[in-house]
Amino acid sequence: MDFRIETYEELKSTNEVVRRRLREGVPEGLVVTARRQTAGRGRMGRVWESPAGGLYFSVGLRPQVSSEQLGSLSLVTAIAMARVLREFVSPANRALIRIKWPNDIVWGPASEPFHKLCGISLDGSADGVCVGIGVNVIAPAGRPEVLGKNLPIYLGDLGFQDTDVDHACNKILQAVLSAFSPLYESWRSEGFTSFVSAYQDLSLLDGELVQVHNERGGLTAQGHVVGINENGCLLIEAANGTLNAISSGEVSLLK
Ligand code: BTN
Repeated sequence: MDFRIETYEELKSTNEVVRRRLREGVPEGLVVTARRQTAGRGRMGRVWESPAGGLYFSVGLRPQVSSEQLGSLSLVTAIAMARVLREFVSPANRALIRIKWPNDIVWGPASEPFHKLCGISLDGSADGVCVGIGVNVIAPAGRPEVLGKNLPIYLGDLGFQDTDVDHACNKILQAVLSAFSPLYESWRSEGFTSFVSAYQDLSLLDGELVQVHNERGGLTAQGHVVGINENGCLLIEAANGTLNAISSGEVSLLK
């Protein structure tokens, strides 16, 4: 795929620009990146803090697949992101970068509070699909000395040496687009099934006892994670042996 990259100093949200351009008919492959976002959006209506020092970008795609298949694109993106981010950290940190279903890239052992390194959003509509990605690259000045519970983590904390933000972000962006392109082509023509084992190899949650809450905070499932299915749904086995396939929600680890 030929990507066309547009770089801005500051935007409200790169997602907003890409979604507008998709509505206007732009061909797929548009990548919009900003050094700062003033209204970055996360999943489930959350704010994505976007000060200088992070990589913020959105990709406009037109995959022409069923709505059932579409959701798994965010998991394919997570596979590409986890693989690439592992390349940029010290060897000891590589295996500690994993995917927390559906598409958070986190660092840390599953037994500890996890720390988010990268978030991925997926906005699909009749106009096309906008994949939004935020990577914590270099920590902002003045952040706490001690990495408290659930605080974000930065590539710079994990052995990434490049302190020139523009150079670092450009290097990461190029690596991500190169890694994503073949995965996207294969997902588009063959679906998600062949990605299940690659995803599970990178998954933080396999075997863990978890709860899942919906956007309104209601409990939707509780049990042990036994994997994902061919649509990318999280498979949770409840204490009574019932198997639930979860397509969306927020997962928390129960210890
Ligand atoms: C999440 O984990 O909640 C998803 C975070 C997605 C953040 C990225 S940053 C670039 C793009 N623009 C946005 O406003 N959001 C996404």
